[in-house]
Amino acid sequence: MDRVCEPEIMEGEEQARVYAQADFAEENQGFVDHFFELYPEVEQGTVLDLGCGPADIPIRLLRRRPALRVMGVDASKPMLRWAREAVREAGLADRIHLLCARFQECRPEQPADAVISNSLAHHVPNPLQFWYAVKTLARPRAPVLVMDLLRPDTEEDARNLVELHAADEPEQLRRDFYASLLSAFTEDEVAAHLAEMNLSRLLIDVPDDRHWMVSGRV
Ligand SMILES: C[S@@+](CC[C@H](N)C(=O)[O-])C[C@H]1O[C@@H](n2cnc3c(N)ncnc32)[C@H](O)[C@@H]1O
Repeated sequence: MDRVCEPEIMEGEEQARVYAQADFAEENQGFVDHFFELYPEVEQGTVLDLGCGPADIPIRLLRRRPALRVMGVDASKPMLRWAREAVREAGLADRIHLLCARFQECRPEQPADAVISNSLAHHVPNPLQFWYAVKTLARPRAPVLVMDLLRPDTEEDARNLVELHAADEPEQLRRDFYASLLSAFTEDEVAAHLAEMNLSRLLIDVPDDRHWMVSGRV
């Protein structure tokens, strides 16, 4: 099945609300646990989170390593409002800096000490822009962890995944999940993007029925 690109920025108020209030605890904690399994030495410095959404991952990251700082970048104003609220409630406003911008236009003063991103890549029309940002916004040899959805072979497979993993979720979230699956990349496509950007030292893995994960040092 060919890729059907979904809108880049999650700009809708309702779309952002439903996403921010959904329960991604298991997935997000799994992402954070995996980051520290791979890179236990990361205790200080700034982690850049591309497409940070409601900032659940940055908050979980800082619960594990309170001396870290996170710079979260997201171009959706409603999503960042949810993020600011969550960060304030967690008492982490002094350690999590949130920037409302497209990552393609993001020019931090310092390169990041690590780069993470969950579920952003499939929103980006040109995936090479995403990998270019990972490469150029990180300091040399910085640890990277990127996770995203895997495009199924057929629309029917995509519908089955929505039923399997989001049967009881609100209709908006189910619609977005389906659109995101159709907009996602296959494992081979991601491997080709990494090769094209001269990032072949990053490794791709498929941990379950709907995700790919890329890790390594840039
Ligand atoms: C599916 S959400 C994932 C949010 C978060 N990473 C998480 O795991 O919960 C994708 C986010 O990426 C943001 N986004 C999409 N394209 C972007 C871009 N070019 N620059 C910055 N943020 C972008 C969307 O607005 C949305 O908030």
